[in-house]
Amino acid sequence: MEKIKFNTKYLEGFVVDEDFRSILPEIEKAHSHLENKDGAGKDFLGWLDLPEETPEGLLSDIQSTADKMNSTSDVIIVIGIGGSYLGARAAIETLSPEFFEQKIFFAGHYLSGDHMCQLLESVKDRDVSVNVISKSGTTTEPAVAFRIVEEFMKKKYTPGQMKERVICTTDKEKGALKSLADTKGYKTFVIPDDVGGRFSVLTPVGLLPVACAGINIRDLVDGAREQVKCVADPDLDKNISYKYAAVRNIFYRKGKKIEILSGFDHKFGYIAEWWKQLFGESEGKEGHGIYPTACRFTTDLHSMGQLIQEGERNIFETFLVTEKESENCLIPTSDEDIDGLNYLAGKQIDFVNKKAYEATAEAHFEGGVPNTTIFIPDRTAYYLGALFYFFEKAVAVSAYVNGVNPFNQPGVEAYKKKMFRLLGRPGY
Ligand code: PA5
Repeated sequence: MEKIKFNTKYLEGFVVDEDFRSILPEIEKAHSHLENKDGAGKDFLGWLDLPEETPEGLLSDIQSTADKMNSTSDVIIVIGIGGSYLGARAAIETLSPEFFEQKIFFAGHYLSGDHMCQLLESVKDRDVSVNVISKSGTTTEPAVAFRIVEEFMKKKYTPGQMKERVICTTDKEKGALKSLADTKGYKTFVIPDDVGGRFSVLTPVGLLPVACAGINIRDLVDGAREQVKCVADPDLDKNISYKYAAVRNIFYRKGKKIEILSGFDHKFGYIAEWWKQLFGESEGKEGHGIYPTACRFTTDLHSMGQLIQEGERNIFETFLVTEKESENCLIPTSDEDIDGLNYLAGKQIDFVNKKAYEATAEAHFEGGVPNTTIFIPDRTAYYLGALFYFFEKAVAVSAYVNGVNPFNQPGVEAYKKKMFRLLGRPGY
C-alpha cells in the first residue's frame, strides 16, 4: 500500500536545516513523553494504541448494530458536538458519494429551533433511529437535542421499539446519558476513559455513525493501524507527523501564527473542521497556540486568495491533496471555441485541479507564504484512517513542543458558567 507523504519543497529559505536541528531535542522529549506516558495529560493517551487494540468483537458489534439500524430505519439521527461529532461527520462527508439520498442527519451541534423543527418535520413520516453521543453525558446542545428527539420518537414507537432504535455512546459508568440509557434499557457503546473527545474518532464515537453510512470501518481502522508504524520513529526524516509538528513550531517561533489547511479536494471540508478542533483545542491555551483555519480550493482562491497572496505575512499553509485522479470527466472540444478553452480539450477536470494546486503552492510561496503538502494516495476509508492518526500524533507532539498539555480544554468552561447562570441552572 502507498503511504501518506509530507512534502516540504516550499519551505526553502523560510526554514533552514539549523531550525530542524535546534528543535529536534524538543521533539525527542515530546516523543519520550508519549512513549513513557509521563507528560502532561498522561491519562489521556488511549488514542495512541487504539488502532492496534480495538478488539474485533467491538468492530463486529458496531457493524451489526449499524446493519440493524439501517434495516429498520430510513433515517439515522446522530446527535453530538465537538469531538463527539466532527470525526464522524468528516468521514461521512469525505467518503460518501455526491448527490446521494442522505440517510444520516446530524443534530445536537447547534442551538437552533429552526434546525430541530425542520429536521423533525422532514423525518416525521419516516422510520428513525438515533445514536446520541456524549462522553460527559451532560453537554447542553446534544442533551437538549436528544430530549426533543426522544420525545418525538416516543410518539411513534413503543418502549420496546425504542430500545431497538436508540443507541447511546457515552462513558462506561458516569454521566446523565449513561444513567438515562440504563434506566430506559438503551444499548450503549463505551467511550474509553483515556480517550478525549477530539481524539475519539476511531472509537464507537466515530465508528458507529460511519458504519451506519455504509463506510467500511475495518478499512478505517486498518489505515490508522498502518499509520501507527509510519509515525513511530523519533527521527524527523522518517516520521512525517513529527516533521509536520516541527515545521509548525518553527513557523510559530518566527511569527507565523496562523496556519491555513488548504484542501485541494472539495470533499475535505469537514476534515478541516475536525482538524481545526483537534489543533485549536489541543494547542490554544496558556497564551500559546497557532490559529488553525481552513480553505477549500480552488473555490476559496476566489475569496481568500488575495489575502493569502498579499496580506499580512503571518501565515503558513498546509495543503491537503489527493494524489489519485477522481472520476473521469473530460473537457470536450468545441468547434466554435468561443470560450477559448480548446487548449484544455481532452483533459480531465482533475488535471486542471492538480495544475491549480501546483500553481497555488508556488505562487503563495513566492508571495511569502511558505507551505507544505500532505499527499493522500486516494480518498478512501483506509487513507482517511491513516490521516486521522497522522494528525493526532502530530498535534500531541506539537503541543508538547509548544509547552502545553494537549489533552485538556479548561478554557471551554468559561462561557458555559456564564451561560448556565443566565439560563438559571441550579448551582450557578
Ligand atoms: O474534545 C473535546 O473534549 C470536546 O470537544 C468534546 O468532545 C465536546 O465538548 C463534547 O463533549 P461530550 O462528548 O462530553 O458531550
